[in-house]
Amino acid sequence: MFLNLQGKSAAGSGLPIIFNNHYELQSAAQINEWIEMHRLEVEMGLAAVGAALFRGFPLRTAEDFDAFVGAFGWKNFPYSESLSNAVRINRTPRVFTANEAPPAVTIYLHHEMAQTPVYPARLFFFCEQPAETGGATPLCPSYLLWEQLAQCSPAFAYDCEVKGLKYTHTMPNEADAASGMGRSWRDTLGAADPEGAERRLAALGYAWQWLADGSLRVTTPRLQAVRDLGGGRKSFFNQLIAACCGWKDARNDPSRSITHGDGSPLDAEAVQRAVMLADQLAVNLQWQQGDVALLDNFAVMHGRKPYTGVRKLLASLALC
Ligand code: FE2
Repeated sequence: MFLNLQGKSAAGSGLPIIFNNHYELQSAAQINEWIEMHRLEVEMGLAAVGAALFRGFPLRTAEDFDAFVGAFGWKNFPYSESLSNAVRINRTPRVFTANEAPPAVTIYLHHEMAQTPVYPARLFFFCEQPAETGGATPLCPSYLLWEQLAQCSPAFAYDCEVKGLKYTHTMPNEADAASGMGRSWRDTLGAADPEGAERRLAALGYAWQWLADGSLRVTTPRLQAVRDLGGGRKSFFNQLIAACCGWKDARNDPSRSITHGDGSPLDAEAVQRAVMLADQLAVNLQWQQGDVALLDNFAVMHGRKPYTGVRKLLASLALC
């Protein structure tokens, strides 16, 4: 039986499934061998609850983490090619800082990059240094959230599933490290100039508008809000909670960030219910140095609690 942080059975779901280094593995070769031997168990854990935690492994640096991720053999999803709106800094080709937003900023629950047409299937996080206080990563089983939301707010759930969602946000001309969504349009779109940005946006089906200060306001095409996980399960696969609660900075206003795919407004009361249900379901992962968390991005949402001190969390994304 797998046990998790709350001591409940994994199917509960009080994610994640924990793999402790009882074997006192020390070398990279030993860790590789362990991953090879336990791959099926890890896959089963992911399929069951969507999250696994590796604790007690002798991982200290970005390079150690890179090697750990590489041992799974999944296809890398580089930050540079993503449309993520977060400012991040690459530490190795496969590993980057999780989010450079200031410690007081809450990052609300979301599926990674579900507000864009391209997203990773799996996420690794590595704790290089835990915060002095706070800084937990809340994990929300999105398949349970969807079940509960469909029961509590059936009309809203129906609209989400049938109409999908569209997101609007404004990217700065230069990176804004004070914001959780401060990545510049050049970096986000991999474009050297406005023409290159427009070509990329057109290819992706976005609408856009240049603003007087050089920032770029974009609206996505209609994106899915609900994902079929197979086996009769669905997840609330979107960035609705983050967009409604957290897309707030000098350029962005949460009240203008999201609509249904046909442009109709969201039911504000149902959105609040979704936020409340997600918070109730979320389990806080309190980091220890060396921890690695592995998430099925389609099944589990994550966020970040505010913190004090220095917190160094690294990430790596995989397409599988
Ligand atoms: Fe994220």
